[in-house]
Amino acid sequence: MQRILVLPGDGIGPEIVNEALKVLDRVAELEGLDLEIDEGLIGGAGYDAAGDPYPATTRAMAREADAILLGAVGGPQYEALDRPLRPERGLLGIRSDLNLFANLRPAILYSQLAEASTLRPEVVAGLDLLIVRELTGDIYFGQPRGVEERDGERVGFNTAIYSESEIERIARVAFDAAMKRGRRLCSVDKANVLEVSELWREVVIRVGRDYPEVELSHMYVDNAAMQLVRAPKQFDVIVTGNIFGDILSDEAAMLTGSIGMLPSASLNAERAGLYEPIHGSAPDIAGQDRANPIATVLSVAMMLRHSLGHEAAAARIETAVGRVLDQGLRTADIVSEGCTLVGTAAMGDALVAAM
Ligand code: NAI
Ligand code: MG
Repeated sequence: MQRILVLPGDGIGPEIVNEALKVLDRVAELEGLDLEIDEGLIGGAGYDAAGDPYPATTRAMAREADAILLGAVGGPQYEALDRPLRPERGLLGIRSDLNLFANLRPAILYSQLAEASTLRPEVVAGLDLLIVRELTGDIYFGQPRGVEERDGERVGFNTAIYSESEIERIARVAFDAAMKRGRRLCSVDKANVLEVSELWREVVIRVGRDYPEVELSHMYVDNAAMQLVRAPKQFDVIVTGNIFGDILSDEAAMLTGSIGMLPSASLNAERAGLYEPIHGSAPDIAGQDRANPIATVLSVAMMLRHSLGHEAAAARIETAVGRVLDQGLRTADIVSEGCTLVGTAAMGDALVAAM
């Protein structure tokens, strides 16, 4: 038996997670999977019920789980709270508690949605790339940091820092991912200027010797930002540090047109991971049956593949998404002329039927 912890969270979180669970139940039935599903509180839901965005009960359940599915956290009603009580702290809490150092963000453009991208169809049609972002190191966490008085004025400073072991473990995740895909890995750094990047590049090359089938290349981050919009299909897997990955993964997401389509995984060394759509709690459409559940459904597919070892089940879900798009069914964020507008629940039902 495998244990899945489900954390619906706030806003559209409960709605989209509900549809994802319909899909998960159906795929478990079809593939004969033995799954136990528990539900917990996080974010504003945790604050409302227990006065804590990452309650102790959730923490205990998270440590026991084989995988975690999260909806989204946050909302305007929580903005006046002190920082430690805000919903976002729940997300940061679970990420650091479980040491989720590897963030995988695929950017896939379904051919049916080519017109949803801001780029010309021929530039993005067939786009399928994966960004592997290091999530627990780099300038976001490095010491020393602060703002202090020097020579009569204030200076602000942060430290970009990576150890060899941190680089090595994220590189292995990226090479492993490349082995399962197109076997091409591009490591993005700023080795012409930064010592931390020099070490990054050296370690990635060293790890690469264990993966002779993977074609490794290197790119400076400024060029990578440019290449992503010029010719994104040149990439298979990209691996990069925390800050470069933050920026490049958002850029890559936008190549595909809708935030409602994109899943993500955050993994630790044991591969028990946290899976969530990349979007937030969308308070503007919460409770209206308008949210696109596909990003969450695809997060379930990633969970089955990366943490639970059920590749066939993952592929079945991804195929169902393609079928439903072929049928012309669209939620409001991806609707275009000639398509059928459906709500959140109807999209979930269509996915279940398509499986
Ligand atoms: P957002 O991603 O929630 O919404 C941005 C826009 O995209 C909105 O117009 C929304 O309606 C739309 N949208 C998002 N998901 C959609 C879906 N599945 N289907 C259709 N449309 C969708 O980002 P925003 O508005 O900046 O933040 C709202 C709240 O979410 C804030 O409290 C923020 O802190 C939180 N947030 C939480 C995240 C998480 O839980 N991982 C990530 C980003 C933001
Ligand atoms: Mg970001």
